[in-house]
Amino acid sequence: MKQDRPSATASLVLKALLFAAHDPIHGGLVPPETVRWSESIAISIIKFPKLFLFAIRNRLSRWLLTTLEETLNPGFILHVAARKRFIDKISRQSIRSGSSQIIVIGAGYDTIGLSAAISNPAANCFEIDHATTQKTKITSFASSEIPPNLFFIPADLSATSIGEVLTAHPKFDSMASTLIVIEGVLMYLPDQAVRRFFEAAYDLFRGGLTCIFTFMDRRSNGDIQFKTAHPLIKSWLRFKHEQFLSGFEKDQLAGYLATLGFSHTDTYGKSEFISAFFPKVDPAPLLAEGEFIGVTSK
Ligand SMILES: C[S@@+](CC[C@H](N)C(=O)[O-])C[C@H]1O[C@@H](n2cnc3c(N)ncnc32)[C@H](O)[C@@H]1O
Repeated sequence: MKQDRPSATASLVLKALLFAAHDPIHGGLVPPETVRWSESIAISIIKFPKLFLFAIRNRLSRWLLTTLEETLNPGFILHVAARKRFIDKISRQSIRSGSSQIIVIGAGYDTIGLSAAISNPAANCFEIDHATTQKTKITSFASSEIPPNLFFIPADLSATSIGEVLTAHPKFDSMASTLIVIEGVLMYLPDQAVRRFFEAAYDLFRGGLTCIFTFMDRRSNGDIQFKTAHPLIKSWLRFKHEQFLSGFEKDQLAGYLATLGFSHTDTYGKSEFISAFFPKVDPAPLLAEGEFIGVTSK
């Protein structure tokens, strides 16, 4: 991605989440505090925020945007909302089971770090992201809204390892049982950088580690893309310098991580999202396909 500009995909995810939050049927998937914080961020990062906030509430513009989504990547918006809610659910489980340090990598405009820091004042929470994206996010909040146990660290993870970045921070504790959330990020790193990330994470955390991440499905022809996406999406990502560079074949992920030492890996996707959030909805709502959640631990 372009280093001097905030992430275009982080902005797209924020907009999709806010659009989903105003869905008359499935809007409840986005918790009210997430909507409030996300709207604060939207107001400071979007060029015409009033127009955007009007458009996501207005029936006609919602219909137009839904038609656009149906053409470009049907089910993408609900996929984003379901993915985030599912990650929130498994993160809370991990914190209840003892994770006392939370690290959100490539946090973009996600509010999971803020929420985790407020709900767990005894835990130290870190957000790592490119400096430009992070800076625009921090300015969305009054300093009094940022809890004292939430720390922002600017870094480019294609040039620096998480080990170097974290060990330089005085509050980081490599002996603490740690939860990493790295959502919508690994696909933007080349295969070697993804491998270096997992190797560094395995070595760094000596008090236990749960890592929640998302990954793109690598198809048998090597293509890495949402199964449901129009070819224009690939061109847009290339134009924004945020094209997908890595992915995994879902069935091979646990084996790959086991070779790096991780003892257990689970994957979750469309069918788990539907069982968790839409168990009685028939027919089940349309969700984009091609991105999964992985949870690995050591
Ligand atoms: C698609 S956004 C996802 C944001 C957020 N995690 C979410 O799911 O809402 C990708 C994020 O990864 C960050 N990112 C991509 N490559 C990175 C790198 N090499 N170093 C640090 N951050 C990176 C971008 O700045 C951006 O915030």
